[in-house]
Amino acid sequence: MSQFNVRLEVMEFLEKSVDSFIEQFLIPIEKIWQPTDFLPNSESETFLDEVKELREIAKDLPYDFWVVMVGDTITEEALPTYESWLMNVEGVDNEGRNSWSKWVRQWTGEENRHGDLLNKYLYLSGRINMREVEITTQHLIADGFDIGTGRDPYKNFVYTSFQELATYVSHNRVSQIAKDYGDKKLSKVCKLIAGDEMRHHHAYCEFVDQIFKVDPSEMMLAFQYMMKQKITMPALFLRESGEKIGLAFEQFSNSAQKLGVYTANDYVEIMQKLIERWQIDKIGNLSDEAEKARDYLMKLPARMAKVSERLVLPDENYIFKWVQPALVR
Ligand SMILES: [Fe+2]
Ligand SMILES: [Fe+2]
Repeated sequence: MSQFNVRLEVMEFLEKSVDSFIEQFLIPIEKIWQPTDFLPNSESETFLDEVKELREIAKDLPYDFWVVMVGDTITEEALPTYESWLMNVEGVDNEGRNSWSKWVRQWTGEENRHGDLLNKYLYLSGRINMREVEITTQHLIADGFDIGTGRDPYKNFVYTSFQELATYVSHNRVSQIAKDYGDKKLSKVCKLIAGDEMRHHHAYCEFVDQIFKVDPSEMMLAFQYMMKQKITMPALFLRESGEKIGLAFEQFSNSAQKLGVYTANDYVEIMQKLIERWQIDKIGNLSDEAEKARDYLMKLPARMAKVSERLVLPDENYIFKWVQPALVR
């Protein structure tokens, strides 16, 4: 039997549990928070006063902070790209409305609140050139992405396990910085989003865990494959109006590193966490090739930590079109 069919069989086998995963890891729509819960209420008489206060507090936050906020928002806003990618994964049947497709739809519904909330906040803050942000978002969606997973569910679940934790780290740090600058409301917003990301991270880790139980060698090889080629952030394909892909991500990534929002060290720590979460050292019944992959994975964080120590960040401050130049300080 070809490897492809085994994967499909595994997905079909796990499909029976997807409804319980949805119950365990996602929150019913009527119970979950909505963006409006944390924004000035436009139906209220006090709306304009609330917006004024929001804008006053936003004045105190520094340039790099806004760059990172915009980058995070655009990453969330490219959700159509992720949904269509995941719908195409082997074993996910949208047309047949199987449980995996239900997972993808409900996960998308939860994620959609993130970009919605952040976008509205940025708009109200008065610190952002929203038109430029919108152009970048449209470019990112129009360009699409290739995360190197193909339609392989094993590789895709490694990617999503990693990516959800990476976004948790990023939103959580932004929350802390907002708090340090006295923006309690924004801090709360980012903390809530980070909470969703963590929940999703646990879900995708669970999927991988389940696959390790039934197809350990192939799961191990898929994990190695993804770590070898490195997890590329969706924002890798960011671009500003009139620019080529690549430049903006590098500058965005520098801002994130400088601010300590998401660093090369975080990448290594996330990898280490996944290795521990899946108890890679304890997995049995592996083929020779998968044993070698395990050895490779166990040594990888230490190797990568050495490389990240040598990273030097450029000093110059790139000025993005996204952030109001008049307020750059
Ligand atoms: Fe998100
Ligand atoms: Fe997420």
